[in-house]
Amino acid sequence: MLDTVVTNSRGKGSAQYNYADTLATSQKVNWKIEDIIGGDKTLDFSKPFMPDSLCRVGRLSFLNDEEKRILNQIRGNTYLAVFGLVEEFILPFVLDHIRPSLDEDDYRVRAFLQFAGEEAKHIQLFKRFSEEFEAGFGYKCSVIGPPAEIAKAVLSHDPLAVALLILSIEWVSQSHYLDSIKDDADLDPQFKSLLKNHWLEEAQHAKLDTLMIESLAEGLTAGDIEKAVDELLKIGGIFDEGFKQQTLFELEAFETTTGRVLTEDERNEFIEVAHQASRWTFLGSGLIHPKFLETVGRLSSEQRTKLEEVAKVFS
Ligand SMILES: [Fe+2]
Ligand SMILES: [Fe+2]
Repeated sequence: MLDTVVTNSRGKGSAQYNYADTLATSQKVNWKIEDIIGGDKTLDFSKPFMPDSLCRVGRLSFLNDEEKRILNQIRGNTYLAVFGLVEEFILPFVLDHIRPSLDEDDYRVRAFLQFAGEEAKHIQLFKRFSEEFEAGFGYKCSVIGPPAEIAKAVLSHDPLAVALLILSIEWVSQSHYLDSIKDDADLDPQFKSLLKNHWLEEAQHAKLDTLMIESLAEGLTAGDIEKAVDELLKIGGIFDEGFKQQTLFELEAFETTTGRVLTEDERNEFIEVAHQASRWTFLGSGLIHPKFLETVGRLSSEQRTKLEEVAKVFS
């Protein structure tokens, strides 16, 4: 039994959000890639890209200021690359979700297709960013993947587990921008602009994910919810392994571009701090997002408590 009866049924929307309003907002926000990248909108490599609360470069006291800025930019590249990777499985997942019920509610269909179209646009935006980053930075930073393999591994899990993962990711794009990026005057304005524009569209995705979860959870038992949450944690484990590898890619990029060879102790500290920073950025801060926990709590207060405990590992 669900702790709280989920009143949403397919097509009706929940009391909290509805498809027509979400669609109307997303149509107002809708930006074009060429409006936010390219031409005179260039990255400024003399500035950091990421707030230190997310990239945690400031914790590496053995690096000088220039080395910290370079590592910050490497981690900025990782940040957008990971969002791009994730969006490569969000896109087919959203299309699969809406495909069997195209005739049920016009606003619902259009809201989810708008969502899918925006994610396709974000994937393209992040690819454009990656090209500009490589051209300006002078080095191609490796990124875990390939995206199709990661998508295959993620999408083999329970749809509710995948939807919960997606919900947590959409909400972190909100909290990261509002809490750490928006008011940080030191960051490169162009990188900030990308994150701002992403945030503006992701706000609607988080609402649609909430509706999607309510729809997927209809009629599920407490055992089904528990299974989905356990699978969510398994998917988190796949990403955690990936983040370990990504940390090694970042170390390689850092040593190659700065020419600095770290000692064994420094390398170990670098790997530990960078890995934990990714865990916090992409897993921990999502699991503790109040809106994410609110949705999980509506499904099961027990599973919400479990996730709050697990999140501590990723802090
Ligand atoms: Fe996105
Ligand atoms: Fe999204």
